[in-house]
Parts: sequence; C-alpha cells; structure tokens
Amino acid sequence: MQLVTEDNITDLAAQRWGTARDPRLAEVMTALVRHLHDFAREVRLTEAEWMAAIQWLTRTGQISDDKREEFILASDVLGLSMLVVQMNHRLDPAATPATVLGPFHIEGSPELGFGADMSDGLPGTPLYLHGTVRDLAGNPVGGAVLDVWQADTDGAYEAQLDVDEARLRAKYTAREDGSYCVRTIAPLGYAIPMDGPVGDLIARTGISHFRPAHVHVLLAVPGYEPLVTHLFQEGSQYLDSDVVFGTKAELVVAFEPREPGPTPDGGASDVPWLEARYDFVLQPAGR
Ligand code: BEZ
Ligand code: FE
Repeated sequence: MQLVTEDNITDLAAQRWGTARDPRLAEVMTALVRHLHDFAREVRLTEAEWMAAIQWLTRTGQISDDKREEFILASDVLGLSMLVVQMNHRLDPAATPATVLGPFHIEGSPELGFGADMSDGLPGTPLYLHGTVRDLAGNPVGGAVLDVWQADTDGAYEAQLDVDEARLRAKYTAREDGSYCVRTIAPLGYAIPMDGPVGDLIARTGISHFRPAHVHVLLAVPGYEPLVTHLFQEGSQYLDSDVVFGTKAELVVAFEPREPGPTPDGGASDVPWLEARYDFVLQPAGR
C-alpha cells in the first residue's frame, strides 16, 4: 500500500506522470505537477480558491468557440504567450521581431493587388502602409505574401462580428523588388474582450485592458523563419501598458499626416491621409 502524505504527494504524482511513453510528455508533465504543487503550497491554496479556479477554467472553456479563443486571451494577459514567442523566435537583432498572434487571425484572406484597399469603404482615416520585404543581407524577397488584419475604428475585428464578407483583412504579395503597399484605415487602440472570465479577473485589478493602435502582419515565406508581428502607431496611447505585453520598440512606426495628393501606390487621395513606412527583414530559416 502506498501511504500518501502532504510531504510525499508531489514525488508520487511526478513519478506517476513520468511514466508517459513520449519522453517530452513525461518531462513536461512531471515539471507541471511539481510547479502546480509548489504554487499550491506557496499560496496555501484553500478549497474555496481551488473551486473558484476550476469554475473560472470551466467558464473559459464554455465561452470559447471557433471564433472566440478565451484560453489564448488568458495566456496573452498572463504574459505567457509573449514569453513563448520570445523563447521560440530568438531572431537576429537586425530581423523584424515577432510578437503575439492574438485570437483574431482568420485563415484564407482575399488576395489584393499593390495598394488595393482592404478597408473597402469603412469609415476612418486612409492609411498607406508600404515599404519592402528583404532578407538579412538586404536582398529583396519578391513574392513574399503579407497576411494583414486589423480592428475597425470601434476596435472590433471581423472575428467578433457577424459578417459574411472578409473585413479589414487581406493578403498582399511583395513585387520582385520586395516592395509592398497596403491601403487601409488607421487603426485605433482598443479594449480586449471584457465580457468573459478573463475580463472578470482583470476588472478586479489595476490592469489597463487596452492595446495600442496596431496592424497585424503575418509573413510565412518558404525558406525564411515564419514571422508573426504587428506594426504599432508611434505616439499611440497604451504603448507602455499593452495588456498582452506585445509592444517592441522596433515595431513602432510613425504614421505621418499627408495632404490630399499622390499616394505610394501611384494613385492620388482627395482627402488627407496617413503614410507609414516599414521595411520587413526576414531571417533565413534554420539560422
Ligand atoms: C490582438 O491584437 O488582436 C489581440 C491580441 C491578444 C489579445 C487580444 C487581442
Ligand atoms: Fe490586434
């Protein structure tokens, strides 16, 4: 008979989970058991607190579906997502850094041409985001596909709305010289969803639940490290307090005000617009 005590329960549980047939699973599960037990001991977890945590996890699962990712949101606000990004994307300092994917990326965005408008008449200040995609040696990466998505001026992503058409998301292909041009509307800072268990918890703290204004870009180019990143508007509110810890100085870009007139796609705007220039630098795979 195995006699269980407060002192030996951790070793017993870790040994049991160490029997996982996949060695990596055994490593992860034994470490998880030890850290969970240490945590419970450190805070002297009560039964009421244990039950509250179980109920919080249950609600987090219940509110999640194919459009709402409350567990990702929980990971984001705990700083876990960004830690995992940092550990897994230790890129050359000259390469464009990675940041969180977030819960609102949608696969299969429509492909648009150079400078085509992904905001498709939605209200907002016109924004031209343009520049080049290059490798670490400065060579253009022609054909690189930029998968771009953002929130509207109410802070809502397509994934949060009941719409049939693609909304504020598109794929742009860099030209042979590496140049790309996205036409959209200027994003605003926005609040993360606060109507679920993550919001309930945040509302009991002094944490700001806002993100600074940003546009998401994903570059999955064969032969290069996949890059999931954002570009943040310089001077935007919340840059210093991003609720998901996603900001990086290298990703902050000036949105310069421009008078009506020629635009970077070779066209012209008859209203004032904003210009943001950013040159993406991709790191070759496996470097
Ligand atoms: C986003 O930028 O879309 C996002 C990222 C993490 C949590 C919530 C939203
Ligand atoms: Fe976002």
